[in-house]
Amino acid sequence: MKHINDILKTNALSSKTAYINLSSTDDHSSPNGMVKCLICEDRGIVLDGDSAYPCNCMQTKKIENQFRHARISRELINCQFDKFRLDYYSSEITDQTHREGAIKALKAAKSFVENCLNSSHGLGLLFTGPVGSGKTYLAAAIANELMKLEKKVLFLVVPDLLDELRATYKSDVNELDLLDTARSIPILVLDDLGAHNYTDWTRNRLYSIINYRLNEQLPTIITSNLSLDEMEEYIGVRTTSRIIQSSRIFRLTVQKDIRLQIYQEREGKN
Ligand SMILES: Nc1ncnc2c1ncn2[C@@H]1O[C@H](COP(=O)(O)OP(=O)(O)OP(=O)(O)O)[C@@H](O)[C@H]1O
Ligand SMILES: [Mg+2]
Ligand SMILES: [Zn+2]
Repeated sequence: MKHINDILKTNALSSKTAYINLSSTDDHSSPNGMVKCLICEDRGIVLDGDSAYPCNCMQTKKIENQFRHARISRELINCQFDKFRLDYYSSEITDQTHREGAIKALKAAKSFVENCLNSSHGLGLLFTGPVGSGKTYLAAAIANELMKLEKKVLFLVVPDLLDELRATYKSDVNELDLLDTARSIPILVLDDLGAHNYTDWTRNRLYSIINYRLNEQLPTIITSNLSLDEMEEYIGVRTTSRIIQSSRIFRLTVQKDIRLQIYQEREGKN
């Protein structure tokens, strides 16, 4: 194998430009036999004199895999604590509570991550509030932060989960895989536990996830538009009761849907 510096010289590529692009989802080998990483020639390891170290492309791949396993969508990767804007939560005298609520929720999200570093067992979080109030943002920011810390996280969007469960109704082993993972993953995010079409069967599946996690004291982060009364109505009293028992609850409120605020900023109208 050529020395790394020779490779760099001959290809005149920085380690950055030699990566495979992030959108590729296939395995490390290239279908047409071409090497993708010109630095390590797809070996994943770079030899430098007597020492060997993992190539940067493996790091990219690792991160990529991590996100894929965690099921965090591309858009949500951008949700980070330090980009969480408080000015979307109006702080006019009459709206004091919007900003205060957001500050408390952000603080709780950050301390959740800190607690995860000390113990893998603890209370989860429930973010409630109207459409476009930053619930998913906070849940995703937590997941992103935990992934940076190499914690095992699974981010499930509830309506998609329900679809997947229905698709495997009474049949597949896949259903068990997904359910098992949702039950036992150290940190689970259930995004948008809302007013969907639950059947008795999907309600049961949800119950089994929540109940298992409560018993094992595995924290779950939930976002929902529903009030607790509505939650009882949609997913049942027993599941809701367990969510309350195992969560700290924060309500995010806004004077105006943040999606609309972003739109108006973009279009220059305020
Ligand atoms: N505090 C914030 N700072 C920056 N961007 C934000 C903030 N809160 C929300 N956003 C952005 O606003 C949009 C809507 O936020 P989000 O998806 O978190 O709302 P939501 O409360 O989950 O709404 P829904 O009930 O419809 O699911 C997203 O694009 C998100 O990135
Ligand atoms: Mg949401
Ligand atoms: Zn490489």
